[in-house]
Amino acid sequence: MKQFRKHLLLGALFLMFSSHWATAQEPKLGEASISKVISAMTLQQKAELVIGTGMHFEIPDSIKDKLPGGGANSPFFQAPDTTLGKAYNEMLEKLQKIVPGAAGHTAMFPEFNISTMVLTDGPAGLRIQPKRKGTDQTYYCTAFPIATLLASTWDKDLVTKVGEAMGNEVLEYGSDVLLAPGMNIQRNPLCGRNFEYYSEDPFVTGQMAAAMVKGIQSEGVGTSIKHFVANNQETNRLSVNTIVSERALREIYLEGFRIAVEEANPWTVMSSYNKVNGTYTSESGDLLTKILRDDWGFKGYVMTDWTGGSDVIAQMEAGNDLIMPGNTKQIHEIINAVKSGKLDEKILDRNIARILKVLMMSPDYKGFHHTDKPDLKAHAAITRRAATDGMVLLKNNNSALPFAENIKDVAAFGNTSYEMITGGTGSGDVNEAYTISLTDGLKNDGYTTDASLKGTYESYIKDERAHQPKPKNILAAMMGARMPVTEMNVTPELAKEMAAKTDVALITIGRNSGEGGDREAAPGDFDLTKTEKAMIQIVTDAYHAAGKKAIVILNIGGVIETASWRDIPDAILLAWQPGQESGNSIADVLSGKANPSGKLAVTFPMKYSDVPSSDNFPGHAVKTDKPMDDKADGSGFSFMRRVPWEVTYHDGIYVGYRYYDAFNVKPAYEFGYGLSYTTFKYSNLKLSSDKFDGSLTITMNVKNTGKVAGQEAVQLYVSAPKGSINKPVKELKDFGKTKSLKPGESQTLTFKLSPRSLASFHTDSSEWIADAGTYKVEIGASSRDIRLNGTFDLDKELMVKKVNKALAPAAPVKEIQPK
Ligand code: BGC
Repeated sequence: MKQFRKHLLLGALFLMFSSHWATAQEPKLGEASISKVISAMTLQQKAELVIGTGMHFEIPDSIKDKLPGGGANSPFFQAPDTTLGKAYNEMLEKLQKIVPGAAGHTAMFPEFNISTMVLTDGPAGLRIQPKRKGTDQTYYCTAFPIATLLASTWDKDLVTKVGEAMGNEVLEYGSDVLLAPGMNIQRNPLCGRNFEYYSEDPFVTGQMAAAMVKGIQSEGVGTSIKHFVANNQETNRLSVNTIVSERALREIYLEGFRIAVEEANPWTVMSSYNKVNGTYTSESGDLLTKILRDDWGFKGYVMTDWTGGSDVIAQMEAGNDLIMPGNTKQIHEIINAVKSGKLDEKILDRNIARILKVLMMSPDYKGFHHTDKPDLKAHAAITRRAATDGMVLLKNNNSALPFAENIKDVAAFGNTSYEMITGGTGSGDVNEAYTISLTDGLKNDGYTTDASLKGTYESYIKDERAHQPKPKNILAAMMGARMPVTEMNVTPELAKEMAAKTDVALITIGRNSGEGGDREAAPGDFDLTKTEKAMIQIVTDAYHAAGKKAIVILNIGGVIETASWRDIPDAILLAWQPGQESGNSIADVLSGKANPSGKLAVTFPMKYSDVPSSDNFPGHAVKTDKPMDDKADGSGFSFMRRVPWEVTYHDGIYVGYRYYDAFNVKPAYEFGYGLSYTTFKYSNLKLSSDKFDGSLTITMNVKNTGKVAGQEAVQLYVSAPKGSINKPVKELKDFGKTKSLKPGESQTLTFKLSPRSLASFHTDSSEWIADAGTYKVEIGASSRDIRLNGTFDLDKELMVKKVNKALAPAAPVKEIQPK
């Protein structure tokens, strides 16, 4: 199709939008100051600018019918509202053609030289419509590996490279802001969106998000770090009230966001759907002004999550500058509130100034001519490589992997071998041009896969798909998500036949989840089904009987149970959801072309009930006399009901390894764990001083002591002295990754500690305090494989930072404490 250049429209639209005062004399953004431009805007224009212009996805009729009320309340297909005038509706029509499939647009005002900002999902790549009416050109984007895999690389430079590639697609397809990265804490393995998030640990989360933001923004486009904050579940996400202590907020849930804001200056922040301690995050001045702007110095603008919160006036006042996706009702609310004196126009002006400041950095505003032709080949190469670096080798008995030289013929068991899952569902799902299946990947790396087995699976899957129920998750259904089909029964006869014919067995287990729904602690989701376990046992037995090996591949987006079956196969490769090059990336690891160097950024527990939040996830209904806080509401998401619901974070700061360590609970695979095809020796730990005086530098040596090249992720934990409050046994405070070291080669890694690395949050004084005493430095290959130790002293207690008192719960939260 002919390229749609928004800025070329500006001139043409100038006349169309000039019904009120617009003349050539209007101050122009870029020429006149922002405040001059704002003071020349009418109240209606101001209200239009802080409210997004709605959602314009094309939704098939077949799906419309499935939405409650036929979707009449949905912003996807609201009846045109003419109360704002013809010009407004004409603008909407124009905007809908700019980057179809974008999640939203801001209003444009050519008379002030204010272009639209195109906001597009995120986070596994750019989510736009791949096909457009009236053209044969396609607009496919690269599906990169999920965030959880990227965090498992422990490689900030690599994540920045992935970010650069993503940012380039944002730029070249004409978008301005990628609604990414997702950076909520993986508090509980069942959160349906964990795949979009990095880790259970705030330091890893913050570092990875900062690396990603830097990469994306280096292309001259923006990011929106999301979902701010404590949005750790999907159940009743539009109304859940998260009750959590100030300390847990500061140390666990806010900390990653703080790091990303302070280190990477994201252009925008997306507030979350949930409430925190009784107030919607998008309506919380404590969160969006006191913490985000005053404590951390954030300079960009805040947008709501799509239909998040319920009171636009409160949102404006709190510092939630832009309401997305926006509807005309909200524009009228703003206009009326200013007229009646309920909303001070100065607040509106303040928010607009923040939006315009960011807008002036956007490529479109600067007149960048996008090509609609990013280098998808180059980006495919980046995704293929990044995926191998984030795969975690969980088990590798007798060097079952990489494949020995004599292995040529492979039998691929498990439906997912033939339908690889590149990423999760929902807004984080990218429309990629292709997915490399496991069998194609193996073929590309020179192996043959058994054709008859492939045929059996393909016809089984086809039959199953024909009568597979729609996903229970309505968003997944709406977006046409493909969920794995029930696993095929593998008989001992089939396994025996394959073991005779082929050299090795692969058994793929697949799981998918996504936005709008949480996972279940049940077979087929967190647990394996009987059929899956039987498949692993039967295939492994048959191959062992033939003197051959069986390898399990986990093509999953989040943590599953492994303890009950992990002893059976020879090796387990956690491939996560590795993006569009799935099969190639996995084959590269199986063949040894790539040495997997991923380590877990999330704990795999022995069983679900070991998870510290298992007894209060995803919370409970709240009794109320009032009708639902459901605005039946023009939000379009009212089919996801707003149920009075709350969840209390009794686990406090004891999330992930902080819990398993402090409460002596043995995990199946601990935080930081991951094997390699080679071995590494750690030595020569040096601290720049044995006294902490504002900072500390730590160096150590890693040597490849094995037979093949490989990279090693090294973790630095700090154990703080006991002060007046309970502290985790140890906390990750830095990490590093070697380059690819040849056998015998060494590298020195350098780590840094700042005062913040030593401090804990004291709720009574709202201070980050480092206690005086002896601190232990532990260098680990994982959180439970500490290889080097050192100590240093802090002579005097250090008050590192005093912050605003903010987000206090109504009553103290009862939290678990270690003995
Ligand atoms: C999701 C966001 C997403 C937005 C726009 C929301 O439902 O929670 O992550 O960016 O939609 O698609």
